[in-house]
Amino acid sequence: MGTMWYLSQKCKHNHVQVLEVGSWCGASTLTWGECIEKYFNSNGSITCVDAWVHYIDLGVNPTEDIQMMHDALRKNEVFDVFKHNIQFLPNSIEIKIHKGWSQDILPSLKKRLMT
Ligand SMILES: C[S@@+](CC[C@H](N)C(=O)[O-])C[C@H]1O[C@@H](n2cnc3c(N)ncnc32)[C@H](O)[C@@H]1O
Repeated sequence: MGTMWYLSQKCKHNHVQVLEVGSWCGASTLTWGECIEKYFNSNGSITCVDAWVHYIDLGVNPTEDIQMMHDALRKNEVFDVFKHNIQFLPNSIEIKIHKGWSQDILPSLKKRLMT
């Protein structure tokens, strides 16, 4: 939040674009949204990139927590919670969702985010 405040002071733009890689259930997405609301008068967009599929090797991390995360991802619950949570962002904040791994998604986003 401090960084977003700083940007708003330094850049004097009234619109900001945030690229979030790894949104999970959307807690951090809500924080970006709060920043846009507070420091950019709700003018901005958040591009969320996440594969929303299991990504931790249970063989390497065989803990109960990781198993729970794994199960929730398999049942698509994490993406459902993400979609539920982002409903609470102001309508003026555009949310762009890209389901996939950053290495596949980011190359195609690069040009569009720069414009
Ligand atoms: C710790 S969670 C993120 C938590 C979230 N930022 C928050 O604070 O609410 C990590 C997320 O990153 C995603 N992730 C990991 N590697 C990724 C990659 N290469 N591309 C896209 N998403 C990735 C996972 O799917 C997972 O949802």
